[in-house]
Amino acid sequence: MFDKIGFLGTQAPLFMDIITVYFAVMPILLLVSIYFAIKKKYQLHFISQGIILTTALVITVFFEIGVRITGVFSQFAKTSYFSYETILIFLIIHIIIAILAVGGWLYLFISSYKRFKLAGYKAFENTNHKKIGMSIFLALTVSSVMGICIYLALFVIQN
Ligand code: HEM
Repeated sequence: MFDKIGFLGTQAPLFMDIITVYFAVMPILLLVSIYFAIKKKYQLHFISQGIILTTALVITVFFEIGVRITGVFSQFAKTSYFSYETILIFLIIHIIIAILAVGGWLYLFISSYKRFKLAGYKAFENTNHKKIGMSIFLALTVSSVMGICIYLALFVIQN
């Protein structure tokens, strides 16, 4: 299951291609979801956030299992144009930003859901939901871009 080669034309396993494509399009999906909020289509905003978040979590769990089983990182880092240490440091920074971003995303989703259940969409006026939401969007986008950079370093920019 985890040893199948992907569809992007590199030597990367399928699960790597799937997660990379998902996280590459995720900022666009998030923008669409935010657009729903701007247009005051709050139910669509809520449902789309739920779908994007759940998909990201499920894909990440599969990805983590795949990386552990295949040892793909150390295997391809050896033949990358960049040194192993450079990619590792970049990877650690990426993981820290991604954990903070997804942690904040989960927190905002759950707290917003509770707020909505308690008092409806009106309860969002005069809160910092907008500000936190935009910060999380930015952090998630940075994580996505860094993830794509790691994919390129491992599977495209090779010696
Ligand atoms: C249960 C989940 C959620 C509910 C019920 C909800 C609801 C809302 C509501 C009612 C607004 C309008 C607020 C206002 O008038 O100031 C809004 C705006 C916004 N939400 Fe959410 N939200 C949820 C989750 C999220 C999450 C997880 C994010 C972050 C990725 C997010 C990002 C935003 C942004 C950026 C805006 C501002 C849009 C604008 O510029 O008008 N929301 N949301």
